[in-house]
Amino acid sequence: MEALTVALADRSYPIRIGQEESLASVLEAAGVGDARRSGRRGAAVVDAAVEEHHGATLASALGDLPRLTLRGGESSKDLAHTEQVLDFLSAEGLERSGFLLAIGGGVIGDLAGFAAAVYLRGIDYYQVPTTLLAMVDSSVGGKTGVNLASGKNLVGAFLQPRGVAAWLPFLRTLPEREFAAGMAEVLKYGLLGDSGLFHQLERGGRLHAGAGPLAGIVARCCRRKAEIVAADEQETAREGGRALLNLGHTFAHAIENTAGYGTYLHGEAVAIGLCMAARFAEETGRARAGTADRTTAAVAGHGLPTRLRSPLPTADLLAAMRKDKKVRDRRLRLVLPEDLGVARVVVAGEEEEERLGTLWEEFGAGDHGIGKSG
Ligand code: NAD
Ligand code: GLY
Repeated sequence: MEALTVALADRSYPIRIGQEESLASVLEAAGVGDARRSGRRGAAVVDAAVEEHHGATLASALGDLPRLTLRGGESSKDLAHTEQVLDFLSAEGLERSGFLLAIGGGVIGDLAGFAAAVYLRGIDYYQVPTTLLAMVDSSVGGKTGVNLASGKNLVGAFLQPRGVAAWLPFLRTLPEREFAAGMAEVLKYGLLGDSGLFHQLERGGRLHAGAGPLAGIVARCCRRKAEIVAADEQETAREGGRALLNLGHTFAHAIENTAGYGTYLHGEAVAIGLCMAARFAEETGRARAGTADRTTAAVAGHGLPTRLRSPLPTADLLAAMRKDKKVRDRRLRLVLPEDLGVARVVVAGEEEEERLGTLWEEFGAGDHGIGKSG
């Protein structure tokens, strides 16, 4: 079992990544056993696909812990589902000493984590990620939240989990398209700060759930994220810091919002966003020549889209970008690669913002100026 720690003083917590071990032993190592033996009331929110495929394993690992089953997918990540989770916690009689397990992909993790952050002003929770994306990214770092119709992740809270238990056999039932979506975040780690990982991904073929290197890759991404979060927990660093984890995401969130949540998987939108960020960085003289082509080739090599599947209104994409949480003083801040393995946060100049419209069109947008934001 891989054992890592997110070092945040008295809020430090373990990440345990198990491949050969039972789910029960990975949960135990991540601290869930202690919470249960303490006699505190607990509950779990479980992704419906995970319940369907792994119900017997969950039953044996969780015993009589009350479980609420919800569908994964971006359409569940909203305030209505938050209320459903809160009502469940209340109906189960959880007190402030209670704890919640979030068992699912990034959607269940973000949603249940948010419910844990606001229920009785905050209870403990544990992340049990079941998708590749959640294992390498969303389960670590304590960003919780849901979407509004007007934008992605616009409501949320920082609340670090008490532990993260990643059990790789969950991935055996993950659809290929969802696995590829998780690889977008893995490629992101390579691009933003781990050139060795990028080269490994560039040279190696497509990975799958049973692939030998997978446990090492998941641990490598979690270690990188744990370091970044420990250094800049709430993304307040003036330079670099946690904002770097948003490489490709300003483009990605605009795609998800404009196309309608769920049209593109989050990881697919991130994949296109990585290609766009690299192209923009190279065209504005910030990135070394070849960065964009190599990024695009690596993204395609892992079964991910490199451009929009069908046109979206350019004006709407640009408007969605301006709603990004990184916008300050009405200026767009973008995370851009300078090289394969080095990224930086930059403030886009006025004329560069105009250039973004052309960039969207190069990546498959259209109907410049015609859209819902008109
Ligand atoms: P998801 O949670 O919707 O899961 C993807 C699909 O896989 C769903 O249909 C789900 O039901 C299914 N599924 C989950 N586990 C399965 C399994 N083991 N076997 C079969 N099917 C399974 O999507 P995701 O890609 O895991 O997460 C995307 C979300 O994560 C986005 O909302 C994104 O904003 C968020 N995110 C958050 C952070 C963070 O730091 N909090 C970081 C990155 C992404
Ligand atoms: N995925 C972005 C972050 O955790 O900060």
